[in-house]
Amino acid sequence: MKKAIAINGSPRKQNGHTAMLLDPLIQGMNAAGCDVDLFYAKDLKVQSCNCPNMYCWYNEPGKCCLNDDMDLLYPRLLEAEILILATPVYIPLPGEMQNIINRLCPLLKPLLESRNGRTRARFHENVKITKILLVSTGGWWEEGNFGTVTRIVKDFTETASVEFSGALIRPHAFMMKKEDEFTEDGKLVIDATKRAGEELVRDGKISQSAFKTIKRPLIPEEELRAVLNSMVK
Ligand SMILES: Cc1cc2nc3c(=O)[nH]c(=O)nc-3n(C[C@H](O)[C@H](O)[C@H](O)COP(=O)(O)O)c2cc1C
Repeated sequence: MKKAIAINGSPRKQNGHTAMLLDPLIQGMNAAGCDVDLFYAKDLKVQSCNCPNMYCWYNEPGKCCLNDDMDLLYPRLLEAEILILATPVYIPLPGEMQNIINRLCPLLKPLLESRNGRTRARFHENVKITKILLVSTGGWWEEGNFGTVTRIVKDFTETASVEFSGALIRPHAFMMKKEDEFTEDGKLVIDATKRAGEELVRDGKISQSAFKTIKRPLIPEEELRAVLNSMVK
């Protein structure tokens, strides 16, 4: 059975909008025969990387010098073929999520290459990850809000020389629900997200139509701004 690991960086964990998107994606992946290990960054005690000389590269390649809950994640990361990084946009990321991304460094071999004018590396041979997918939700209207978080995850993916499976983004995610119930549009997004999970496992990639349905506007831009501004006390 295929294996994947998903890390949800939302401090609101299973009650957040990010889970609203990640959970159906995982359901779709499960339906297509992929086992997904889900972790919430907020539940893990992960210190920020503080080693001065990149110990995991230049002292003991592959070994982090810190001991904390990354010790739970590293073995799971070694088993997975697909890594899903799920996060809300927090100009740009919640701190817990950034800590985990930084602590992925021991998975990379310390031998550097140059590709298209950029310094790149590769995962160690015992890392099976071949694809990395970003799942992200934001509160505001436009896709541009996801530029920084997308760049962070895409850049890590390119540094590791694996495939970027894309950015599954949902702007103004809170508009998928009204009085705690999914709207008809919200249900369409959920269905498309399940489909995206199935496609990722079955076809190795998510279709452009699924990406498009998931991120489509649910309200005109000016109306959304008015809704948000009306919340100011
Ligand atoms: C500190 C903070 C910063 C945020 N910054 C942005 C932002 O730059 N752009 C955006 O679209 N939404 C922003 N938001 C809204 C969240 O990204 C949005 O509500 C998201 O869906 C929350 O997901 P969650 O419920 O899983 O935490 C921010 C929220 C917080 C708390």
